[in-house]
Amino acid sequence: MGTLIQGGTVVTASDVVFADVLIEGREVIAIAKHIEEKGHQVVDATGCYLFPGGVDPHTHLDMPFGGTVTADDFRTGTKAAAFGGTTTVIDFALHSKGSTLRDALTTWHQKADGKAAIDYAFHVMVGDMRQEVMDEIPMIVEEEGVTSFKLFMAYKNNLQVDDETLFRVLRVAAKAGALVQVHAENGDVIEVLVNEALARGQVEPKYHALTRPPEAEGEATERAIRLAEIAGAPLYVVHVTCAQAADAISDARKRGLPIYGETCPQYLVCDVTDYDRPNFVGAKYVMSPPLRAKSNQAVLWGKLRNMELQSFGSDQCSFNLKGQKELGLHDFSKIPNGSPTIEDRMAILYHYGVIQGQLSLQKFVALTSTNPAKLFGLYPRKGTIAIGCDADIVVWDPSVERTISVETHHMNVDNSIFEGMRVTGIPKYVFLRGTLIVDGNTFVGEDGFGEFQRCERFSNVSL
Ligand code: URP
Ligand code: ZN
Ligand code: ZN
Ligand code: ZN
Repeated sequence: MGTLIQGGTVVTASDVVFADVLIEGREVIAIAKHIEEKGHQVVDATGCYLFPGGVDPHTHLDMPFGGTVTADDFRTGTKAAAFGGTTTVIDFALHSKGSTLRDALTTWHQKADGKAAIDYAFHVMVGDMRQEVMDEIPMIVEEEGVTSFKLFMAYKNNLQVDDETLFRVLRVAAKAGALVQVHAENGDVIEVLVNEALARGQVEPKYHALTRPPEAEGEATERAIRLAEIAGAPLYVVHVTCAQAADAISDARKRGLPIYGETCPQYLVCDVTDYDRPNFVGAKYVMSPPLRAKSNQAVLWGKLRNMELQSFGSDQCSFNLKGQKELGLHDFSKIPNGSPTIEDRMAILYHYGVIQGQLSLQKFVALTSTNPAKLFGLYPRKGTIAIGCDADIVVWDPSVERTISVETHHMNVDNSIFEGMRVTGIPKYVFLRGTLIVDGNTFVGEDGFGEFQRCERFSNVSL
């Protein structure tokens, strides 16, 4: 006796087929044109797509940042993710000064274990890259099931690493089978521009964007790519926002280098003019890199369509306007960076991508699930619908229209950067390892049902 999802259209990164799917226990055990009901529990998916559960490769849950802690933790953030069709998150364990990578992972397990409603894996976001920390990388890969590390080229005097450190880490990581991720913005340039703006009394949210120009992202992206090229290492560039950075990735890939890029929903549908919203509402869009001129959106869509950007993360990092974003009421540089995006990641890409004719269904699945799973060593257990894989399945109803709003979202935060947007398509049912966790508007899963997923070493996936 299993669960039979009947009458839907199964979408993977390669195919769109009308088929029934049979789940037994935690796995998919059969996919066929027609499967007999005989005693199975039948789920009607008529008129719906079956997508592999979303894999969000970029989240910050329960993370101390900018003098406060993100509004969503593993309990609220993963539930909101589930409502949006995401069944696995790869969260960034923050490594702090003076501690070890293992300390960071111990802390992150404590934050997630027993709370996460969906499956989770970790990257480490390295805050203090000393020699001992570099030496720890092979052991973390081997023993902890964590195979990717994020370094910062921005946030000077805090998280920023210099070129020597980045280069050394790229070599160590490549040898250990790990993938280095970079936050690519030139932190030295930004530091000068921020200080000059503040000295001129330019304190409003819009100066966040004006002091972090796209050239600073393009330059850092090009530099990181060159360092990876010399090191003979693969590289993953997180949250790509602009033509300058995206073109650098395309150029590198034309040279045959294993360079990968991620963008996020906010950079596709919000733009620099959102910072002009009055009464400090612009602060809800303060994130790094910042929102860009609208002309960049078409560039990013083109790169997603051509798979020159292969991955789609939310960069979920939620802060309340009240009490959190307000820390920077009189100084934009003190506004905690980040926005709530975990819940609407798939809806935004589906509506503005698939419905508006930018992306095929297969590319939507590749970006939201398959490619992140491949890049971070979770495929094929995660990232597809196939026999023997985890039965993480979203029954997506493409006929429902809704308006995104803070009034109805499930994230634990007082603002939405997508407020008022009309989107088509919503999960009707969400299954995680064969268990129904979302039934329409109702969460039917459990806190702590999420399991930690060990990531395999990076292997040159031809994406
Ligand atoms: O503004 C952002 N993106 N906050 C989260 C941290 C990061 O840099 O990814
Ligand atoms: Zn039948
Ligand atoms: Zn970043
Ligand atoms: Zn981030």
